[in-house]
Amino acid sequence: MSVSIKSADEINKMRVAGKLAADVLEIIEPYVVAGVTTNKLNDICHAFILEQDAIPAPLNYKGFPKSICTSVNHTICHGIPNDKALKNGDIINIDITVIKDGYHGDTSKMFEVGKVPKFASRLIEITQQALYLGIQQVKPGAHLGDIGYVIQEHAHAARYSVVREFCGHGIGKQFHEDPQVLHYGQPGTGLKLKEGMIFTIEPMLNQGKRHIKMLADGWTVHTKDRSLSAQWEHTILVTNNGYQVLTARTNETINET
Ligand code: MF3
Ligand code: CO
Ligand code: CO
Repeated sequence: MSVSIKSADEINKMRVAGKLAADVLEIIEPYVVAGVTTNKLNDICHAFILEQDAIPAPLNYKGFPKSICTSVNHTICHGIPNDKALKNGDIINIDITVIKDGYHGDTSKMFEVGKVPKFASRLIEITQQALYLGIQQVKPGAHLGDIGYVIQEHAHAARYSVVREFCGHGIGKQFHEDPQVLHYGQPGTGLKLKEGMIFTIEPMLNQGKRHIKMLADGWTVHTKDRSLSAQWEHTILVTNNGYQVLTARTNETINET
């Protein structure tokens, strides 16, 4: 597969899909409290997405059984919603992908359940900063390696590790398109960005070592050392002079060019 340049019409549809995915993360927020099950969060998101005449992309994607991904504490990504309740002090990533009018919007954020330890909040905050630093590299002529490099450097300066087995991705009519967007790398290397490309950036940072353990369900990914992990994700359009974050939330401050 090669890296597609989206037409103006496709970009408009990606804007709508991106905004809807962002809305889901906003409406679910008040429900992310101690005592709620991740299945309940799944069901609320699922119903909201259908009400918007959209499709939850994870459901039945390569056999994934639910409509959202819920990754708690030492789960890195692709956690499957279940009947276990969240408890005070947990951290959770909720990853939403919708299909609206044939196009995908993909975004995730971290939530804190009740009062969480300082070390957990710090991991969450540094990971969000890593995402924003990555986004700020995006402009025509920049390289994918520029994005990976700033994420990796920010993580390591804070003494966190970067997960290597999962990456950002091109997105459009398909959930996962070319290119692969690595969260590590060297400046000036890799694909050169062009106006009209759309891809996600979705760094996963671990408090301990970077190594992963895939569970027997074929989806759930844990940190091998069971240390905490955090992830944030946005869908990004390369504009003529920089970027636009298609999945920006209402109360999120992002300095677009
Ligand atoms: N939303 C994830 C991503 O950012 C992919 C989840 S695949 C699923 O790429 F099947 F688990 F939903
Ligand atoms: Co993604
Ligand atoms: Co996602």
